[in-house]
Amino acid sequence: MSLANKKILVTGAASGIGAETAKTIKSLGATVIGLDRNETMENVDQYIATDLSDPDSIAAAVEAVPIGIDALCNIAGLPPTKDRVVVLKVNFLGLRHFTELIIEKLNDNASIVNVASLAGLGWPEAGDQIKAFLALRDFNAVEAFCDEYGVGNEGGRSYFFSKEALIVWTMMNRWTWRDRGIRMNCVSPGPVETPILPDFLETLGERAKEDAKIMDRPGRPEDIAPVIAFMCSEGSAWIRGANIPVDGGMYQHVLCNMHGHT
Ligand code: NAI
Repeated sequence: MSLANKKILVTGAASGIGAETAKTIKSLGATVIGLDRNETMENVDQYIATDLSDPDSIAAAVEAVPIGIDALCNIAGLPPTKDRVVVLKVNFLGLRHFTELIIEKLNDNASIVNVASLAGLGWPEAGDQIKAFLALRDFNAVEAFCDEYGVGNEGGRSYFFSKEALIVWTMMNRWTWRDRGIRMNCVSPGPVETPILPDFLETLGERAKEDAKIMDRPGRPEDIAPVIAFMCSEGSAWIRGANIPVDGGMYQHVLCNMHGHT
């Protein structure tokens, strides 16, 4: 696989899965532009300071991005231990706002890869909440939305919900930019050893311990980055609106249990 001569944006490039993705796609020949609230020059050719919870910062970042982008990897995200308002802003509203504004700077046949999560697999049960959230555009109205639709901090619900919304939004946009050949997909990791893994373990408590017994090992950023790189490459051109689990089999485990298969 080669990403030679491609110009690729990576949000969350300063840490964890984003940093590993930047490294991987750079090693495959791409020019990497990293966007993060924390400065990094490691693994990137250019850094653009961006706060995805703030529409003004997003607009300034979009302005700073050059034209001719071949792929966008939306990887930045906050864990379930953070407050629900900022989680929903960064993990969904800001991601969507940035993506919609950057479309005009993408080349034809570009690829958009959203990092969702195994935590988003419950999206079929959250239909009305998700519909209402997708209709929300005002960053200042998130708190009121959470109160009205019962999206709390407890049990990491806001995090789960942000990833459910991201998966649904990705599926809905399977053909939005088809006339230009631009495609969008999700990659959904299970638990991965990065600085935010302890936040997940703290939020999920007993459930995380049960999951850990079933898994042979936690994921590593090196398990996720090559899949994101493939989704940026031409080899994935016919994959559109998909949610690709990269979780050592956990998604299939949950689905089989849910439907009475072993
Ligand atoms: P990380 O904490 O190592 O990296 C997240 C990056 O996002 C950091 O560089 C951080 O500065 C950046 N970021 C946070 N808030 C931001 C903001 N307001 N504006 C701009 N950048 C911001 O975490 P990790 O594990 O690499 O997570 C990356 C993505 O993978 C996230 O979307 C996360 O939800 C997802 N994920 C992680 C899993 C895990 O177990 N680590 C499992 C499933 C999904």
